Amino acid sequence: MTSAAPGAAAGQNEDIHKLRALIAEDETNGWDKAWKEGRTPWDSADGSVRPPLRELIEDVKFPIPRTGRAIVPGCGRGYDAAWFARLGLETWGVDISPTAVDAAKIFVAAMPDPPENVYFKALDFFNFDVPEGKFQLAYDYTFLCALPPKMREAWGNRYGEIISPGGLLIALVFPIDGDRQGGPPYSLSPETYVPLLSDAFERVYLKKPGRPSEGREGKEMMSVWKRK
Ligand SMILES: C[S@@+](CC[C@H](N)C(=O)[O-])C[C@H]1O[C@@H](n2cnc3c(N)ncnc32)[C@H](O)[C@@H]1O
Repeated sequence: MTSAAPGAAAGQNEDIHKLRALIAEDETNGWDKAWKEGRTPWDSADGSVRPPLRELIEDVKFPIPRTGRAIVPGCGRGYDAAWFARLGLETWGVDISPTAVDAAKIFVAAMPDPPENVYFKALDFFNFDVPEGKFQLAYDYTFLCALPPKMREAWGNRYGEIISPGGLLIALVFPIDGDRQGGPPYSLSPETYVPLLSDAFERVYLKKPGRPSEGREGKEMMSVWKRK
C-alpha cells in the first residue's frame, strides 16, 4: 500500500500524490515538472534550515570543517546550501531540476547579504564531472528518500567517489516510519545506510535530534559518516 507521507499536513497530501504521479509517469523529467507545477510539499515554508542540522553544527555535537568544498545534492530551494556557504565552505547546491535551481538562485538573491560562495547547478547527482579536490562535506536530507530503492547502491557508491578521504557526509535520516511501501518519500532507517556506505565510510555519529523538525518528531535521526 502506498500511504501518504509522514509529517505531512492534510493539505500537502494532494501535492504528494500528484508528485508521485508525475515521477511515475516520467522518471527523467518528473521532478522538474513537479517544480514547475509548484508540487513541492517537502519545502521548508519559511526557507529556514531544519533544527537537527542547526543543532549538530551550532551546538557542536560533531565538529564540521569550515573550509573546503561542500555539496548539497537534491538541494531544492537552496536554503541548506546557502547556510553551509555562510559557514565558510564553497558550496554546490545540485539539483536535477533546472526550475529548482532557478528558485534557489532567486531565494539566495533575495537574502540580506547573500553569500557569494554558493553555486547552484542543474546536474544529475549520479553523472557530473567531480571537481579537482572533490568535496570535503556533503549534506543529504530528503534526497535518499526521494530516490527509488533501486538507486540506493549507486547513491552510496557515488558519495564514495565524490567525497575526499577524511571528508564527511551528514545524513539526516527521514522518514523513519517503518516499512511503508511506495514513495517518494521512501521509508528509511539508520540501518538502510549501513550496506550502502560501509565500504567507503565509517559512521562516526548517530543520535536522535534533541531539536527535531516541526511535524517530523520521532521520524528523524542525525548521522555523520567519515570517508575512509
Ligand atoms: C524531496 S526534494 C528535497 C529538496 C531539499 N533537500 C529540501 O529538503 O528542501 C528532492 C530533490 O531532489 C531533486 N533530485 C531528484 N533526483 C535527482 C538527481 N538524480 N540529482 C539531483 N537532484 C535530484 C529533485 O528535483 C528535488 O528538488
